[in-house]
Amino acid sequence: MSKTHFPHLFKKGKIGNFTTKNRIVMLPMARQFQGMNGEVTQKTIDYFAERAKGDVGLIIIGSTRVFPPGHKFYTPASLNLSAPQFIPGHCELVQALHAHGAKVSIQFGHIGGQTHMQSVAASDVQQNFCDGTPYTKPIPITKSEIWDTIDLFAKGAVMAKTAGYDMIEIHAAHGYLLGSFLSPFLNTRKDEFGGSIENRTRFHVEMLKEIKAKAGDDFPVTVRISALDYLENSIELVESVHVAKILEAAGADVISVSAGCHETQHLSNDTMRMKEDFKRPLFEAIKKAVNIPIIVAGGYRNPEISERIVSDGAADFLGIARPLLADPEWPKKAAQGRVDDIRKCLSCGECLYVRGGAFNFPQSCAVNAVFGREKDWTDIEPALEKKKVMVIGGGPAGMEAARVASLRGHSVSLYEKGETLGGQLLLASKPPGKKRMLWLRDFLSNQIKKQGVNIQFGVEVTPELIDSEKPDELIMATGAIPKQSNIPGSDTNQVVLAWEVLRGDVHLENKKVAVIGGSMLACETAELIASRGNEVSVVKMRPGAYMAEDCEPTNRRGIMEFMQEHKVREITDHKLEKITSKGIDLIDNDSGDSVCVEADVIVLALGSTPVRELADVLEEKDISFSMIGDCTKPKNIKQAIYQGALIGRQV
Ligand SMILES: Cc1cc2nc3c(=O)[nH]c(=O)nc-3n(C[C@H](O)[C@H](O)[C@H](O)COP(=O)(O)O)c2cc1C
Ligand code: SF4
Repeated sequence: MSKTHFPHLFKKGKIGNFTTKNRIVMLPMARQFQGMNGEVTQKTIDYFAERAKGDVGLIIIGSTRVFPPGHKFYTPASLNLSAPQFIPGHCELVQALHAHGAKVSIQFGHIGGQTHMQSVAASDVQQNFCDGTPYTKPIPITKSEIWDTIDLFAKGAVMAKTAGYDMIEIHAAHGYLLGSFLSPFLNTRKDEFGGSIENRTRFHVEMLKEIKAKAGDDFPVTVRISALDYLENSIELVESVHVAKILEAAGADVISVSAGCHETQHLSNDTMRMKEDFKRPLFEAIKKAVNIPIIVAGGYRNPEISERIVSDGAADFLGIARPLLADPEWPKKAAQGRVDDIRKCLSCGECLYVRGGAFNFPQSCAVNAVFGREKDWTDIEPALEKKKVMVIGGGPAGMEAARVASLRGHSVSLYEKGETLGGQLLLASKPPGKKRMLWLRDFLSNQIKKQGVNIQFGVEVTPELIDSEKPDELIMATGAIPKQSNIPGSDTNQVVLAWEVLRGDVHLENKKVAVIGGSMLACETAELIASRGNEVSVVKMRPGAYMAEDCEPTNRRGIMEFMQEHKVREITDHKLEKITSKGIDLIDNDSGDSVCVEADVIVLALGSTPVRELADVLEEKDISFSMIGDCTKPKNIKQAIYQGALIGRQV
């Protein structure tokens, strides 16, 4: 008999009247490919079915609205289960997931005051997004609206039961409507729904009672709470423990313990720099206080650490969200002890955000291009004609292309001119809190080695080599190099490149350093330099832009906090005139005044430019090839992985 890996994670679990095949829960994630009116689509089913196939024990469908079209709380941007016309779609979804042995729950929620639209919350306290942007001040929800909401949640529960769901979840976490009631900071009501903890939980208690009355006492209900929202003067852990006990007494079958709200989203959707398992004290406190099972959430990535939270008795169920976007087979691979085969979530936050400020729709994952393309891309079709494929460049784009092409049966050789794989992931892993970047390098390099890709290190590919190898397909993934600067004085010895600092070619200690550029690269390089005891200034020249604006907000917040803690001087809206022996001369964009910033060393972080030399030569010789990743246009990991995954399927 084969060994059981992570035995506590893979023990059966019991919730109310049903049993799960293991202790792994897919946490709710909204924006789940619903249709224009909030209906379940085939894409919704395909997406969740892959996670069920990957052996998740319990799937919780993300925040769903129970307000019917025409209701003032109705929003079209969510999955909906508010009226009979939505039930057949949910039925189909549940059946598809049950077919793979997963139990299925659905979360009901209301956005509360965390929106730029006019909405309702416990009180009229303005809430913010995690980058500090204020949301529209909410209107206090009226008592009749509270009772109407309770009624609609209970009706939704009945419809969920009809659709075949095993359970429903009340979303009272993350600062949304029901979460705002729990917080003494967000809830300043003077009526029976504000003030004491009993009053602040009244909405939830009445809702639990009504759900049980309408859907049946034996229909299980979870309540998801934020044990801490990390806002000032808000809920304390002792109070959250009390909340959990009140909810248990009111009939909750499970407490799902999370933390944070939009303003502190870097703590609810843990970023790269968070320690895995850092919320354990919250889970332990609540677990000790209640007799019903608890689900814990946030930041679990490695099966070893995940196993421990269950084996130590601090949780009954492990909740994971983004790890299942990055790899739907996380549970299956963990059960088989194939930990190295798990494509781990980096907590990069790309799935939460799209550049330009809006939430990401359609969703995508930086490391897993199949997410959102489940129907077409999950099965890797064997190539009809087996080809000799030559990939040039061992960065993420090249490795992903090699991985997919070799899975299709092609004979793949990957040429890397350096001595190691990873490309820019190696540099990206150097700043404080960025080590996880190497998880992607490790995953891809392990896979291509296991699959027998012929990896050639230290080889600069030339037209002659291509001529002698005679590949059927040539894929160029030659990456990018730092942009040259034409700033007067930039050819002096005191000027270095950010890449040289990150690579470790330049060591700076006890120096005054000016970093030129305001991008994520510039700010993270500044972090690294500041962490070594240097006095650092960062100069962002582009007018109107803010520091590290190319980084998504949760991780950006960590960068900005680190820079502030390390007293990095941020200089914005200045034009760089010249580099001198004393430092840099700037012109203030507003006043036109000259400013000199003293610096011993100037670090240029001005972006990168594609490496195209070989491509240009091949074009001249009329040799055909494809280009992927930064050598097309420098962008980010998501683009590199997507382009690698695409070309691997096309050759
Ligand atoms: C894209 C996305 C959507 C989310 N939507 C919801 C939601 O609808 N309801 C909810 O309670 N939490 C939601 N969350 C939070 C997750 O359930 C989870 O608590 C968080 O991602 C941390 O867990 P992880 O580190 O395993 O991803 C969402 C997270 C992501 C990344
Ligand atoms: S986009 Fe980043 S944070 Fe989101 S699932 Fe993928 S790796 Fe994780």
